[in-house]
Amino acid sequence: MKKISIIGAGNVGATTALFAAQKELTDEIVLVDVLPGLAEGKALDMAQTTAIEDFEVNLIGTSDYSKIHNSQLVIITAGLTRKPGMSREDLLRQNASIIEEITRNIVKYAPEAIIIVVTNPVDVMTYHCWKVSGFPAKRVLGQAGVLDTARFCYFIAQELGISTKNISSIILGGHGDSMVPLLRYTTVSGIPLTELMEEDTINRLAQRARNGGGEIVELLKTGSAFYTPASATIQMAESILKDKKQILPCSVYLEGQYGISDIYIGAPVRLGANGVEEIIELKLTESELAWLHTSAEIYKQNIDNLKA
Ligand code: LAC
Repeated sequence: MKKISIIGAGNVGATTALFAAQKELTDEIVLVDVLPGLAEGKALDMAQTTAIEDFEVNLIGTSDYSKIHNSQLVIITAGLTRKPGMSREDLLRQNASIIEEITRNIVKYAPEAIIIVVTNPVDVMTYHCWKVSGFPAKRVLGQAGVLDTARFCYFIAQELGISTKNISSIILGGHGDSMVPLLRYTTVSGIPLTELMEEDTINRLAQRARNGGGEIVELLKTGSAFYTPASATIQMAESILKDKKQILPCSVYLEGQYGISDIYIGAPVRLGANGVEEIIELKLTESELAWLHTSAEIYKQNIDNLKA
């Protein structure tokens, strides 16, 4: 039986569960939250839509971690979210202890699982989860690049007045202000973006993508984005569960690739049944590489802060 568990029944967790159910990604979906009743209530509400909607999945809501046993994939969404004016890094310490407890339960009940971390600051939380789990790095990864890239593609499509589906791009680096949109690898139906747009416009849209999460936090006032974070997570989950081997930007453990070691940061990877099956090393220009290293420095510092 295929089974996915989602930890945290807030907006991101619940939306991820619903998207997974709609796609019938697995036979069973377990939604866990420590707040009694929250996951049970949301899962029950979602399960009742099966009488109307076109999917059939066993949806379970619980605050009992033992229900995640034997999951092939566990998605961690639990944690505090940003308030206006806060950076993702402001969440560091509080979310680290939440991640630690969740990870210990995953090790106990689903020791063979692949883990996708969504909780912010995602690159540091994924590193922390990997350390606590003792799992091989290919089985622990973070969601960020798919979301950031989706935002960039959307802004480009809106500017050009064309379908978002025609845009292809990739964003490297950490999920924060230091992320690195790769303009050379951004195309519109195969046409380099630079042939269709002035540099100033591209830079403006890249900056908006960098601030994409913050823009939504400011608008919502309470909480942060969840539809596209959930959708991005499901794209990764689907590539893993169906062994699709898609190349997607994910937060992964680097061991010398791009001249960076011992941190989690965004890079393109081939995602399949074994998790991270390959980290793809693009030939970057000097300035792209310098940018990526600046981003890496920030995350190294954050990991050190967490250890201190
Ligand atoms: C965002 C949060 C989820 O980028 O990091 O919207």
